[in-house]
Amino acid sequence: MSIKKKLRSSEWFNSDNKKMNFVHRSWLRNQGYPDDYFEGKPVIGICNTWSDLTPCNGHLRQFAEVVKRGILEAGGFPMEFPVMSLGETIMKPTTMLFRNLASMDTEESIRANPLDGIVLLTGCDKTTPSTLMGACSVDLPTIVVPGGPMLSGRFRGEQIGSGSMNWMVKEKQNNEAFTDADFREAEVCLARSIGHCNTMGTASTMSTMVEALGLTLPGFSSIPAADARKKMYAQLSGRRIVEMVKEDLTLSKILTREAFENAIVTNSGVGGSTNLIIHLTAVAGRVGIDLKLEDFDIHGSKIPLLVNLKPSGKYLMEDFYYAGGLPVVLKNLMPLLHKEVITVNGATMAENYKDAVCYEEDVIRTLESPLKKEAGIAVLKGNLCENGSVIKPSAASLHLMKHTGKAVVFETMEDYHERIDDPNLKIDENSVIVLKGVGPKGYPGMPEVGNVDLPAKLIKKGVRDMVRISDGRMSGTAGGTVILHVSPESSVGGTLALVENGDMISLDVEKRSLELLVSDEELQKRKQSWKAPEPRADRGYVKLYIDHVEQADKGADLNFLVGGSGSKVERDSH
Ligand code: FES
Ligand code: MG
Repeated sequence: MSIKKKLRSSEWFNSDNKKMNFVHRSWLRNQGYPDDYFEGKPVIGICNTWSDLTPCNGHLRQFAEVVKRGILEAGGFPMEFPVMSLGETIMKPTTMLFRNLASMDTEESIRANPLDGIVLLTGCDKTTPSTLMGACSVDLPTIVVPGGPMLSGRFRGEQIGSGSMNWMVKEKQNNEAFTDADFREAEVCLARSIGHCNTMGTASTMSTMVEALGLTLPGFSSIPAADARKKMYAQLSGRRIVEMVKEDLTLSKILTREAFENAIVTNSGVGGSTNLIIHLTAVAGRVGIDLKLEDFDIHGSKIPLLVNLKPSGKYLMEDFYYAGGLPVVLKNLMPLLHKEVITVNGATMAENYKDAVCYEEDVIRTLESPLKKEAGIAVLKGNLCENGSVIKPSAASLHLMKHTGKAVVFETMEDYHERIDDPNLKIDENSVIVLKGVGPKGYPGMPEVGNVDLPAKLIKKGVRDMVRISDGRMSGTAGGTVILHVSPESSVGGTLALVENGDMISLDVEKRSLELLVSDEELQKRKQSWKAPEPRADRGYVKLYIDHVEQADKGADLNFLVGGSGSKVERDSH
């Protein structure tokens, strides 16, 4: 296909301003690029989230070289650049605090440079939405190379998965003599290869999301990082992005409302993380699509769970890939998807996935014999969450889906840690644990703490689940009857802020309701004496974040980042 429009990079290298062309080209020549690199080759930016501090993305430096191979083969000019990388297990207080910052880094790095197309190298949880949000606000042709999950962990004969193991360790710590040596052995058994978490946690949810949106080559997202085919697809993605530039296949042409609805349906079908809600909403906001919390319930709540993967099921991502991976899921879900939406390879969803074959029916089910009839995400409303809250029924306990209990309130995360294991704490299995101060502004950064551990004394008694409510998030690898993303959050004076010990709270997932059974008069009284907590930062990025972050139901983007500014740069550097 011929180049239809002038390359954006030609404004740097071949413009009417000979002096500026000289400046832009000359310094790059110190890398030894020949003349013809600056004469009509599409310049492809490889946006790399590699970092030693993001172990899930530790292999992406090598992968960038493979992508470059593909770009060169197709006649492009590859230019790798680093952006802020967010390592889920290491960064404090939470990577979510920095998702929007990383998106700004990505956006500005793309726009300010002579790039015609973009490859996003992603992996660990936030590295996918952050880079995608940034890329969307520029809107060049863009393809995603998802780094892939780790191979399955094995510990003393048992298959173990990322994250799920953490909860098991917590129990072992309480119940058995699990020694330090046992811990060390488990550590390395769990993370035994390159790649990100190997359950359907947030990272796998995000790579599933980008494929369902049409932003990866078909079949790419579920391949384990260590599998040779992962590199092959990375190389093919390098070839393809050069063609996409020639076709001017920009992000906004792929990211239609239908594509977002496909991602919602698919997330339910795979039992994906509740974090998808916040990230997908934020991505949609960048391309001018107004996804509402209700959309996740309308499109995503009556969807059968087709995938038997942890945390909702039994297997891990490696098993998923051997069973046929996401292509089989998308083929099986096709009656519920918008089939005609276009994807990065230029073909439609229906065309891409029609020939998928399932090799293990216990891992990937059909619509007729799903793992659960209805999965997905339920959006709750009520006086306790006027702008909504969410629960993932497939990870919750059936007996708690309709439940009324007495609130046991923790004002902050520190308060929770201090008192949860106090033998004198008045709490039983019917209590409702209420955690405040963990929302976007309040923590700040809305950490994954909503699935707080139960009190040790109840775990010892054999209690495995209780209703927990907070304005925070939960890890994609976690489970339980956990109500998350309560909006408005407590630190801005949402009703959550007014809950007191002993108040009755009533949850009815079927009716989609979450009510604090306290009279309006009493709540009004409490509201009058309520004082907002001091903001936890008075300078720097964290202050910017606290001042501008939107509530969870709006995707927790910074309010001034919603939307895009395109790829045009009006003024020159000299
Ligand atoms: Fe990186 Fe789970 S910690 S994906
Ligand atoms: Mg996580």
